[in-house]
Amino acid sequence: MGIRNLINITDLKIEELNSMMDLADNIMDNPEKYYESCKNKKLATLFFEPSTRTRLSFTAAMMELGGNVLGFSEAGSSSAAKGESVSDTVRTVGCYSDIIAMRHPKEGAPIVAAEKTTVPIINAGDGGHFHPTQTLTDLLTIRREKNRLDKMVIGVCGDLKFGRTVHSLISAMLRYDDIEFYLISPEELKIPQYVKDEMDEYGAKWKEVRTIEEAIPNLDILYMTRVQRERFFNEEDYIRLKDSFILDTKKLEIAKEDLTILHPLPRVNEISVAIDDDPRAKYFTQALCGKYIRMALILTLLGLDKEV
Ligand code: CP
Repeated sequence: MGIRNLINITDLKIEELNSMMDLADNIMDNPEKYYESCKNKKLATLFFEPSTRTRLSFTAAMMELGGNVLGFSEAGSSSAAKGESVSDTVRTVGCYSDIIAMRHPKEGAPIVAAEKTTVPIINAGDGGHFHPTQTLTDLLTIRREKNRLDKMVIGVCGDLKFGRTVHSLISAMLRYDDIEFYLISPEELKIPQYVKDEMDEYGAKWKEVRTIEEAIPNLDILYMTRVQRERFFNEEDYIRLKDSFILDTKKLEIAKEDLTILHPLPRVNEISVAIDDDPRAKYFTQALCGKYIRMALILTLLGLDKEV
């Protein structure tokens, strides 16, 4: 594999995506084979923004590979609070670790970081921009549920403007054949133009709609997202838009029997808890897949994937 960093999902060729998913499947089936693969290796998790799944699944991933983890979970407990730059922080942490997973509120921060250190940098989310390890998680979940990644009708719903997981997911899915998108959002939270341009470039079919009901009967995948409160300039707009879409059992009545419902989580209000026991709800399976694909990613970026 030619890359040493993962900044954007498009850094990975389709063959690399597929082999990373194969590796994750293998780890799931044979976890004991990998218990010592990262012995004496250290992962640094630098989280300048809150996280539950991404940071803790990276931590669990490295622990299950026999490695160690160091880092911080908020900017306030690092020297960023004293005014240290991202560049200096990352350059320093590169002296203490073999690989770095970093989340930052500023778009592009991981690119700056990657220029300043010699250890691999993983973008664990940069502002409203990209979240490539969530996309790896989403792809693995979809492939395990559907046994394919092509010939799919995908509905993405919620905050399509600031929802970085959606931007990365669309970029990745465009590289598979015969993918069609329904973009379900309020007018104010529409998908950015650059994502529409990307879909057009690949000749993908896409349609913007304002209700879940318009799209749901056609969907193989429904990918729900929360309205990203932290990216709003004023609270009033957030309050007006936050409950734009709530998936409930009534709306599911007209969905396919084999619909797969995903959500990167955290959920606020957009999926009724009554749906959690529906066999089509796969968002907690998705959270589990996140650990295994991050194990595969760590092994791949450290060049250890072929050693086991
Ligand atoms: N999906 C996701 O990125 O969750 P966290 O913000 O909890 O890491």
